[in-house]
Amino acid sequence: MFSFRLEETDNRARTGTITTPHGIIETPIFMPVGTVGSVKTISPQELDDMGAQIILGNTYHLHLRPGDEVVAKFGGLAKFNSWHKPTLTDSGGFQVFSLAEMNKITDEGVHFRSHLDGSKLFLNPERSIEIQQNIGADIMMAFDECVSLPAEKEYVRKSIERTYRWAVRSRAAKTNGHQALFGIIQGGTDLDLRRISAEQITSIDFEGFAIGGLSVGEEIPLMYETTSFTTEYMPKDKPRYLMGVGTPQDLLHGIKYGVDMFDCVMPTRNARNAMLFTSAGKLHIKNKQWELSDEPVDAECSCYTCRNFSRGYLRHLHKAGEYLGLRLNSIHNLHFYLSLVKRARNAIKLGIYDKFMNETLEKMSTGGL
Ligand code: GUN
Ligand code: ZN
Repeated sequence: MFSFRLEETDNRARTGTITTPHGIIETPIFMPVGTVGSVKTISPQELDDMGAQIILGNTYHLHLRPGDEVVAKFGGLAKFNSWHKPTLTDSGGFQVFSLAEMNKITDEGVHFRSHLDGSKLFLNPERSIEIQQNIGADIMMAFDECVSLPAEKEYVRKSIERTYRWAVRSRAAKTNGHQALFGIIQGGTDLDLRRISAEQITSIDFEGFAIGGLSVGEEIPLMYETTSFTTEYMPKDKPRYLMGVGTPQDLLHGIKYGVDMFDCVMPTRNARNAMLFTSAGKLHIKNKQWELSDEPVDAECSCYTCRNFSRGYLRHLHKAGEYLGLRLNSIHNLHFYLSLVKRARNAIKLGIYDKFMNETLEKMSTGGL
């Protein structure tokens, strides 16, 4: 039901295909985030049109609302939200640590309060997997502890040991054969601890492996160094997923170091805040400078927004608080991310990834619009 085939390699960058019950995914890939079962403002039809191949949902949010049992009653997330291609669910640990009011973390699990109504809740590996099985995504994630940085080395050491015990329990809790389960490597930016965590997590029989615990307050060069180091300890014949990352620059670096999958709220969240990604860098559509501009957001972009609307009109929609502005901006930013990874796949196939990456980075740094 689930498989990964490594196709082309170019130095450490790689292309591959992931086969799931809901179809195949070409890697490297970016996964739009659909936290509550919807990619904010965008319909499944539009996601399809822009080349999205897999979207992400969150265990924590869907458990709170509408409830994973409700999703299960509809036959799983794909039937509930009519996105019929592959889906991945995050395990809830990270969202609990970042959103909820934490009460207590012990080896048994995490006691916390809902960010919606303050009610008392509990998550542990067994509950997370049970909920993820109710949601029914093609790929589930192990329940892990993500430490925000900077942190004491002794605390990070304790957290990788706990994450390992939770990974073993997550694997043991899975009771069906059609959903894949990925393990998550932690260890902060300490290379010693990253190596130990990578060895521990990859010793468990998971269908794929993720690098967690990055983009949580550390400097960017340290994030790149940690990613580069960690992928060397991950099996070549399984998918590698860098969680919660990142900017277009971060994706290009991750791909160079052999990462296959990424997810981030940045393209959709920034779109709603009027920040657009372009081949010449960031563009702030609210700036007065665009009032009379009849140029598209990005002349090199073939998205619906760029084919039909001017910067001046998008600025107007933003100023007027029109919902259409949120949608058109989100369509462009997601298209930009998806076309970036598509171009990266082509460059790897042609054996020119480093050249492609350097030229793309150079162009993006010229903008500042
Ligand atoms: N999303 C971004 N980072 C992480 C992480 O470390 N763990 C999990 N479960 N999700 C994430
Ligand atoms: Zn566009």
